[in-house]
Amino acid sequence: MSLILICRLLGVTALVVQVAISKEAPEVTVSVWPPGSNIYPGECMLLRCSVVSGSRSVWTYQWFRNKPHMALTPNPRHLASHDSYSITGVTREDGGSYWCQVERRGSNSTTVLLSDPARLTVSELAPPSLTVTPSSRQIFRGERLTVQCPVSGTNSSGWALRQLSQDFGLRTADFQTGQCTPLEGAVSADVPDACIFPTVYSGNSGLYWCERAGGRSNAVNITVSYGTIIMKTPVHSVPEGEQVVLYCQYWKGNHSKTTFFKDGVEVHTSLSPDRVVEMTIDNVTKEDEGFYKCASHGRKMESPASWLSVGSNSTSANGTPISNHGSRKWIILSCCLVGLLFLIPLIVWVVHHYRYQICRTRNCWPISKEELPTVELPKTKQDVTEVQWDLSWMEMSNLLDKQLYPIS
Ligand SMILES: *[C@@H]1O[C@H](CO)[C@@H](O)[C@H](O)[C@H]1NC(C)=O
Ligand SMILES: *[C@@H]1O[C@H](CO)[C@@H](O)[C@H](O)[C@H]1NC(C)=O
Ligand SMILES: *[C@@H]1O[C@H](CO)[C@@H](O)[C@H](O)[C@H]1NC(C)=O
Repeated sequence: MSLILICRLLGVTALVVQVAISKEAPEVTVSVWPPGSNIYPGECMLLRCSVVSGSRSVWTYQWFRNKPHMALTPNPRHLASHDSYSITGVTREDGGSYWCQVERRGSNSTTVLLSDPARLTVSELAPPSLTVTPSSRQIFRGERLTVQCPVSGTNSSGWALRQLSQDFGLRTADFQTGQCTPLEGAVSADVPDACIFPTVYSGNSGLYWCERAGGRSNAVNITVSYGTIIMKTPVHSVPEGEQVVLYCQYWKGNHSKTTFFKDGVEVHTSLSPDRVVEMTIDNVTKEDEGFYKCASHGRKMESPASWLSVGSNSTSANGTPISNHGSRKWIILSCCLVGLLFLIPLIVWVVHHYRYQICRTRNCWPISKEELPTVELPKTKQDVTEVQWDLSWMEMSNLLDKQLYPIS
């Protein structure tokens, strides 16, 4: 009885100690959106820092890259804002480790916590491609938007469309159930695996990607604008050498003069008085990559900046297999090879051993090749193991026959 009591007391003590510890030590973690450590060139992604602590407290956030406790080198595509860190138009250089550090100032003490690193690898392979119509990172409220998961040959491809809204709510439309309701869109009757948003509003802003067992598509960041002017750049990387058209669109009215800027520098002026003004770049090169914005005459209205991503021309992403599949094939293949490498000597050894044991008990036939004068070696030079293998197999079957049918 007393033993049980002691055990119980110990248990309760352990529990109390555990609770005390977990209260004392808040935990800080970095989550990656879309989930996974592989990121794809040209896409958008988000890191989010969260603190789990017993008490409600106000934390300040700081982000580190490649090395903890080192100030970030400014990068226009990287935006650190409180608990989130977003990357627009991922490039090779964006791979590496990212940390989040949180700080809380109490009346007596300051608590500083550093997360484990989030390690990101930029994939070499193009992911299956998400299709957005119109292909623009910015869209006016009330416009129509279609987001479609990668199209495959069969009709049921198993994709689910996910949206991480700007307030970090995660919503999933599972096409197998034939619904996009959580995303407040309608399933398209004619386009497979697509959600249609007939009139977009702020809730449609956010990060979109498709997911299924074993992989995901690239992720795209869409912003619904409530302003008076937007800059439309394609959601995907434009292959080098192609032509790209950028659109500056006014909410209403025609405007006599529109100026385009790249990374803050004026690059083009259009005098065509339209609600939608174009700027065409023939033969796009890596130098054209950057943040574009446009402004009305005298910069009375100015659009938010929008990223133009230029990729190498080899990868047309549509329909290419998920990177996982490729590497998985290699893993399986190398496993088979390694297995064979181990298996062959093992079999040889087992056969050898077995024969040796039988021969030891029965004293029947010679063990080594040298003691086998009667066996004729074939003219073509055969491998030693091969000869031994043939022999022992024959001997073994002989022996088994004898043992199974001792009368014969
Ligand atoms: C998406 O775009 C908006 C507006 O430019 C920006 O505030 C946000 O950080 C972006 N999010 C991601 C995940 O890139
Ligand atoms: C601050 O420190 C004093 C003296 O060490 C202690 O009595 C008090 O409880 C502390 N207050 C808090 C909020 O930790
Ligand atoms: C595109 O630009 C590259 C580099 O400037 C050049 O070598 C190539 O000939 C151009 N192609 C066309 C079709 O203009």
